Amino acid sequence: MRESPAESAAAALATWREDTPGVGQRIHLNNAGAALVPACVARAVADYLAREAIRGGYELADEAAAAIEASYAAVAALLAAAPRNVAIVENATVAFFQALSAFDFEPGDVIVTTRNDYISNQLAYLSLAQRRGVVIRRAEDQPAGGVDPESVRACLREPRVRLLAVTWVPTNSGLVQPVETLGGIAEEAGVPYLVDACQAAGELAIDVARLRCDFLSATARKYLRGPRGIGFLYVSDRALSRGLFPLYVDMRGANWCSADAFELTADARRFENWEFSYALVLGLGAAARYALEVGVERGGGRARALAQTLRASLRGKLGWRVLDRGEHLAAIVTVEVPGIPAPELVLRLRERGINTSATLRDYAVIDMDEKRVVSALRVSPHYYNTETELAALVSALESLAAA
Ligand SMILES: Cc1ncc(COP(=O)(O)O)c(C=O)c1O
Repeated sequence: MRESPAESAAAALATWREDTPGVGQRIHLNNAGAALVPACVARAVADYLAREAIRGGYELADEAAAAIEASYAAVAALLAAAPRNVAIVENATVAFFQALSAFDFEPGDVIVTTRNDYISNQLAYLSLAQRRGVVIRRAEDQPAGGVDPESVRACLREPRVRLLAVTWVPTNSGLVQPVETLGGIAEEAGVPYLVDACQAAGELAIDVARLRCDFLSATARKYLRGPRGIGFLYVSDRALSRGLFPLYVDMRGANWCSADAFELTADARRFENWEFSYALVLGLGAAARYALEVGVERGGGRARALAQTLRASLRGKLGWRVLDRGEHLAAIVTVEVPGIPAPELVLRLRERGINTSATLRDYAVIDMDEKRVVSALRVSPHYYNTETELAALVSALESLAAA
């Protein structure tokens, strides 16, 4: 007899949970911080380290060349890109900064961005403003939340615009920015486009051709369910053929061919650094393959549906404020529970076996000030979470709020 859709969804959930040793220990609702890794990822990292201890680090990297290449191929498949367009680096911030450093900003040059770009990206723009005289233009938001594409279009008309940089899903709310529409606008204006996909990778399907981006940065440990300490940068053929390279290119990114000259590495690896944790590279590859097996649309769709269920349930509580705004919402839920600072709530919940995180004003000053909130609880389910776990969270929050 054929399985019904409900039966096959239940079977898939059971498999995902079996593959995830951590779900038996805690209710993990901090996937926007770092998700629980599946057993295959933990194994890939641990096995490689164990082999390194026996064979030697450089020697094992040579032996494992095919497995390392397979990690590039898996990340590329996740982005609908080619392996030559993938650089692997330490984390999303390094990836973003490597891309940013490829532009020789002059005083008066303009970077166009949004009011919801990630804190470290905003800090880098401010640093460029302070040290290089770069002008930062933040496009206006729409009334319902999220950047207004027409405002971006207008900003890109300024003559000295050198870059459009947009965070797809910010760290502090479920907002999903219209990155595909913005890609079209950037292309029309002939402005390079850098996307921070850190909170999108593993939850939202990525097709770099549809995004029309020049660069896209992400990390392994969030919705992609990879290990900590590794991330990647997509570099388009357009960026490669323009000869873009990071300001501090190292011996991985270039060949020192004579005393005063170097030749760039042909592919995206010109954005890498020479030293790597290959154990983490294999872990990243295992995570990307696992995400493809689950299906990013399928897994991400379930994560977002769980987040919507949670928002509906939190909205019903008197005085609690669900803070996520925007036409489309990702799996990040932010809520202000009156009377208890979010960092304290996180600790109290952790004592009860529930992992969440706090988002503070300083992480996103523009958005948090607009919402008039100092701290909010951030709850970020993934597809391996259950409705029962969400109900346990809500009931724990109710009892903490009533205490
Ligand atoms: C939207 C966004 N971008 C970038 C980052 C930085 O990622 P990483 O810590 O891997 O550098 C984060 C981390 O939370 C994030 O949420």
